[in-house]
Amino acid sequence: ITINVTTRDGERQQIDGVEGSALMEMLRDAGLGVDGTCGGMCSCGSCHVYIANGAGLPAPIEDEQDMLEGMAEIVEVRPSSRLSCQILLKPEFDGLEVEIAPQF
Ligand code: FES
Repeated sequence: ITINVTTRDGERQQIDGVEGSALMEMLRDAGLGVDGTCGGMCSCGSCHVYIANGAGLPAPIEDEQDMLEGMAEIVEVRPSSRLSCQILLKPEFDGLEVEIAPQF
């Protein structure tokens, strides 16, 4: 499953992941500046990304929504904002366009 990533420097990269892995882990392990400080517990916001073509993704759970709403006072939260720790890879997510949000 290949994900197209735009880094905070505006660089484009492709990274590969296996089904079931969290997008946050992929970004973190690729050394792209995503810390995943809370380990995927939906409570740190360090895994914030914008997903341009994320319409087919499962809707955010309440915890993710609450976190994004809280973050909106500090960082730019867009309709395309997601917490990447909450996105578990599926084959149909191949080609996802992910932009890493500014450091939180
Ligand atoms: Fe902390 Fe996603 S890793 S909110």
